[in-house]
Amino acid sequence: MNKDIKAVILAAGKGTRMKSNTIKVLHQIFGKTVLGYVLDSVKSIATQSIVIVGHHAEEVTEFVEKNYSAAKTVLQSPQLGTGHAVSMACPSLENFDGQVIILNGDIPLITEDTINKFIEYHNSNKSDLTVMSAVLDAPASYGRIIRENDNSLKAIVEAKDATPEQSAVREVNVGVYCLNWAKIKGAFCQLTSNNAQGEYYLTDIVSWAKNQNLNVNAYIMENSEEMNGINSRQDLAFATKLMNERKLNALMTEGVTIVDPASTWISEDTEIGADTIIYPSTYIEGKNKIGKNCKIGPCAHLRGDVEIDDNCKIGNFVEVKKAKIGHNTNAGHLSYIGDSEFGSHINIGAGTITANYDPISKKKSKTVLKDNVKIGSNTVLVAPVEIGEGTNVGAGSVITKNIGEWALAITRAPLRIIEGWVKNK
Ligand code: UD1
Ligand code: CA
Repeated sequence: MNKDIKAVILAAGKGTRMKSNTIKVLHQIFGKTVLGYVLDSVKSIATQSIVIVGHHAEEVTEFVEKNYSAAKTVLQSPQLGTGHAVSMACPSLENFDGQVIILNGDIPLITEDTINKFIEYHNSNKSDLTVMSAVLDAPASYGRIIRENDNSLKAIVEAKDATPEQSAVREVNVGVYCLNWAKIKGAFCQLTSNNAQGEYYLTDIVSWAKNQNLNVNAYIMENSEEMNGINSRQDLAFATKLMNERKLNALMTEGVTIVDPASTWISEDTEIGADTIIYPSTYIEGKNKIGKNCKIGPCAHLRGDVEIDDNCKIGNFVEVKKAKIGHNTNAGHLSYIGDSEFGSHINIGAGTITANYDPISKKKSKTVLKDNVKIGSNTVLVAPVEIGEGTNVGAGSVITKNIGEWALAITRAPLRIIEGWVKNK
């Protein structure tokens, strides 16, 4: 029987160790926030996500409302710890009788697949509370999983509260929990702050549930890489690297050539068709879709909302943002393509720029090129502008008006040659 599942995501903490004006869950990896990754990991598992906000509550709420309309936010003020944070969700879950997945908002590498396996484990063990754990070589500051002699779960002890013996334990708390809500919800009214950090620890629900004789278990995740939390800038860089490696491997498995994985960066939300070749030093962030048989890079920069159809070439030092590019279209060198819609069989000469931004009105406008357009090198397309099918634009032009089909448009100043000028000087 599949019970209704809701998620509670903890995102109220400041993230002191980031030393930042931006709250840590809004720091970005490939143009997507840390919290966004966590929300996406439960998007198709939970019927609703409740995000606990506190520090920079307005910014986090705005982010959630704008990007995750099915989620809701609840304020935690002041922020008295992870257990206190969950208790803020109690009124929203008052009559809820299903399962609640609690996730720390700072673990962007966690995958839907892992959460599904975790829930399966919880169900097949008839568990009331399951904690996700990982076995690490260097357990660092993570909470330690303490087991009974019979190997069942006894408690979670925070690194700061651990005895030397407990510190030596390499199994740690990931920050993901599955609760049969009706049985565990009482814990959040009875947590105490009797510990080194003077906080209400979420992790204390383990001892609470054991005292109630409930069935409590820990599930060891298969790939401990997914547990890396974001607490510092070093963590952010490390998570970015892991996420990238995971993505490049998946793409190569699907038939994409990555010439140099060490210098290539591709976001999780980028789809790429088979036989496309990604050349070194390419950076692709945000959500994108690239077709089959394309050549991207070296040194290309795709900034998100980019759709490139089959057989295209986006070459060296070409930056593309929010653009749709039809099949067999080439932009080989040194160009900027932003807020654009390009058809098929287009050639973009070196150094072509779509001037999409008006710094006075702060408005961005669109450039539309129909099929078979040829743009000469060093052209500026001042948006909003549309160029009709088959039209050629001469090199060095500045195009400020719409142009119809099959024409030649050129704004170049006439060439002057003054014979002997140098010798006469
Ligand atoms: C927590 C766990 C630790 C686990 C680790 C995994 C506790 C007590 N400890 O430690 O066992 O190994 O995560 O990453 O839970 N938050 C709130 N409100 C608060 C405090 C925190 O919403 O009052 C949020 C934070 O924004 C963050 C999450 O809860 O997203 C975890 O908080 P954090 O301070 O990072 O906990 P850790 O020390 O990492
Ligand atoms: Ca953390």
